Amino acid sequence: MSRTALLLGASGLIGGYCLELLLADPDYTQVTILVRQPLPTSHPKLTQRIVNFDRLNEAADAFQVQDVFCCLGTTIKTAGSQEAFRKVDFNYPTESVRLALQQGATQFLLVSSLGADAKSSVFYSRTKGEVERAVAASDLCSVQIFRPSLLLGQRTEVRTGERIAETVSRAISFLLLGPLRKYRPIEARAVAAAMIVIAKQQPTGIHIYESDRIAQIAAQTESQ
Ligand SMILES: NC(=O)c1ccc[n+]([C@@H]2O[C@H](COP(=O)([O-])OP(=O)(O)OC[C@H]3O[C@@H](n4cnc5c(N)ncnc54)[C@H](OP(=O)(O)O)[C@@H]3O)[C@@H](O)[C@H]2O)c1
Repeated sequence: MSRTALLLGASGLIGGYCLELLLADPDYTQVTILVRQPLPTSHPKLTQRIVNFDRLNEAADAFQVQDVFCCLGTTIKTAGSQEAFRKVDFNYPTESVRLALQQGATQFLLVSSLGADAKSSVFYSRTKGEVERAVAASDLCSVQIFRPSLLLGQRTEVRTGERIAETVSRAISFLLLGPLRKYRPIEARAVAAAMIVIAKQQPTGIHIYESDRIAQIAAQTESQ
């Protein structure tokens, strides 16, 4: 069956892999991305729309697809304040879900984070929990929420804290067994691959994928 996708966050680490995999996937016949700046990618299936994310409703028609992939996110350091962070990690995804429902999309796939918890005392985890809750409360037919652990992959931006965490978690990864497996760092490409596998299965209802499950799903694609 041929599918159509809208991708938010295509210039990011997970989003970049999602874009690459969606364009290479014969099941997807049309891929639209909403970006702030044009990407140097061209492909017969690809439509790029330059948007101001504060006025996403001006691109409402772009949400007339089956699958909406939301890989948006920032850091408090980059955004400059908690308020600016929340705009990217909460307001834009929730506005996207609203538009997805309004425009007849059937599935929303959200990249959240390990530890997302609307009741957390940690601002980052609380925001992720709140966005999950808002997305899950939509009346969309299928909602898929991905909670990756620390992401591995090549970034242009230097994130010292994440690099230190990567070194430590790589070193102790083999100790993280059983219920601790979800704390193992995960390749951003694996997250993108798992999102596309699940999108094509389109299970109805609300589903949450912890990081170890994401890694398992992605591993199945590699063994095929
Ligand atoms: N880093 C980790 O280890 C980690 C772990 C678990 C979960 N996560 C979550 O995973 C998700 C994806 O992470 P990632 O590392 O792939 O993200 P990333 O590389 O930082 O990319 C973020 C994307 O969001 C867009 N974005 C940021 N600020 C924006 C703004 N003000 N307006 C419009 N678009 C904006 C970026 O577009 P521009 O290029 O235009 O800025 C980019 O496409 C995020 O929600 C993150 O919180 C990350």
